[in-house]
Amino acid sequence: MCGIVGYVGEQPALDVVLSGLRRLEYRGYDSAGVAVQTPEGGLAVAKKAGKLANLEKMLAEQPLPEGTVGIGHTRWATHGGPTDANAHPHVGGAGKVAVVHNGIIENFARLRVDLAERGHLLTSETDTEVVAHLLAEATDAQLAAGSGTLDLAEAMRGVCRKLDGAFTLVATHADAPGVVVAARRNSPLVVGRGEGENFLASDVAAFIEHTREAIELGQDQVVELTREGVTVTDFHGNPGEYREYHVDWDASAAEKGGYDYFMLKEIAEQPKAVADTLLGRIDANGSLTLDELRIDHSVLREIDKVVIVACGTAFHAGLIAKYAIEHWTRIPCEVEVASEFRYRDPILDQQTLVIAISQSGETMDTLMALRHAREQGAKVLAICNTNGSTIPRESDAVLYTHAGPEVAVASTKAFLTQLVACYLVALYLGQVRGTKWGDEIFEVIRQLADAPKQVEQVLTTMEPVRELARSLADAKSVLFLGRHVGYPVALEGALKLKELAYMHAEGFAAGELKHGPIALIEEGLPVVVVVPSPRGRSVLHDKIVSNIQEIRARGARTLVIAEEGDDAVVPYADHLVRIPQTPTLLQPLVATVPLQVFACELATAKGHEVDQPRNLAKSVTVE
Ligand code: M6R
Repeated sequence: MCGIVGYVGEQPALDVVLSGLRRLEYRGYDSAGVAVQTPEGGLAVAKKAGKLANLEKMLAEQPLPEGTVGIGHTRWATHGGPTDANAHPHVGGAGKVAVVHNGIIENFARLRVDLAERGHLLTSETDTEVVAHLLAEATDAQLAAGSGTLDLAEAMRGVCRKLDGAFTLVATHADAPGVVVAARRNSPLVVGRGEGENFLASDVAAFIEHTREAIELGQDQVVELTREGVTVTDFHGNPGEYREYHVDWDASAAEKGGYDYFMLKEIAEQPKAVADTLLGRIDANGSLTLDELRIDHSVLREIDKVVIVACGTAFHAGLIAKYAIEHWTRIPCEVEVASEFRYRDPILDQQTLVIAISQSGETMDTLMALRHAREQGAKVLAICNTNGSTIPRESDAVLYTHAGPEVAVASTKAFLTQLVACYLVALYLGQVRGTKWGDEIFEVIRQLADAPKQVEQVLTTMEPVRELARSLADAKSVLFLGRHVGYPVALEGALKLKELAYMHAEGFAAGELKHGPIALIEEGLPVVVVVPSPRGRSVLHDKIVSNIQEIRARGARTLVIAEEGDDAVVPYADHLVRIPQTPTLLQPLVATVPLQVFACELATAKGHEVDQPRNLAKSVTVE
């Protein structure tokens, strides 16, 4: 939540900062703002409620002075509504210091009262503004002490020691020319290293067009950026440890590439994302090689319970993983939304494997759940798409998905790759523990290797789904039904429709319908049904065919997703969407795709902003 950019170099800072903010707008789009050091030795600030485009329009009409040092922010509001006054940067010291912030400063109310008592006038409702005033106090004190030079990093360290909560802060000061400082605690921040220029951002996407050399910072660190270099310390001024890495994708991966929306591009990228996530994980003998997991085989053999924690779409991937893990390994597996996990005092010990699934690697609910699990002695394996992010760094092991950057708020390719990663982990556990024979594992791997081609095939047959979606733009509600792994797919279809089309949509286990929700069925209500393969567990298939008849008898308009050759569903489908034949457990890889296309098209038909749905942000870094 909130996108942050900082720049020190030779280029016009405003251009660099605004282009960085454009790439980070997926993180929040309630307001945007910038501050630049001016050639005259001052700070120029501009900020505006609404999308970045509003700020850009304002800057076109009232340009800021040119400068080569700047910071910027795109906001997802927490404290205070999305107004001009609450937009970042916030300033202190009569406009000499400017600060942008991501996160929540939990003790801001007390700090605010103290500042007011010391004569500071705070003009916004945000928690951030206190930092600007505290920094101004600290830098004024340095100057008053007669040192002559201003040490903004030292001032930031002092301020951070007073703050509770989670934060990334980036600041610049008129009396510290050529310097930007930043601090992080439990909130994302990466450094980009260039030639004669350096960058700070919430995400490497902000500076990827300038450099692919990045630094992953640790917790509770302050970083000082100048043209010449980067200095990292902890909050007490001791040298800080960090990891340098090369970003393995380029600027084109974070652009729309001719598509109208990132979501459309990301849906289309799914065959490649799935293939990339499988790549290099199978050796010449057909065995899985997940050495990167870094958890000893002896530990994996002792595991007696798996617990999966995740949020939103990643949670749905976890629900599907449960079926695979229990079926292939016979280890009991629980799945829980991360935001609930630690508050119920879950039973965990050294024999529990906790799997934390997250595209961004920064979701605070998931991060807190994994920290709780580790405190209880459990081993934590992260399944994550973002190199250098906090969740993999704080886990015992990580399996990266290789979806490439996912920019649209609605998760698509990340979901499919999370599924692939979950299947790989389940098979690997089966391999290490000997619950599956090598040839059985090889057979599933062979089937997984077909998935990219099958997803591609689904994508080429989506025009009728788009047409159907457009025809339903005025529907009040859509229900989704599934059984077995089709049930989480139904939940995912409903989530996509809610977040993109702002419609009432609900997913149900098809068998549960008769226990209450069937009362919702009325004449013409669209109901999407994900039908399991008749070739796998035919009992599942037969039951859902009965469920379709039950809802149809009550007036539902049935939109049936069924595999090729499944003729039993034909008489009961008002609309039939065909997907390739797959083994039951792998069906979500193909069955989810029409639901993504359906939601995207329906939202477009309603005139919604597909990539930036209202009230949402891509990376949810507050609890
Ligand atoms: O980055 P994460 O995978 O941890 O994010 C979890 C959820 O916030 C995310 O999947 C969200 O539900 C998506 N917007 C759904 O499309």
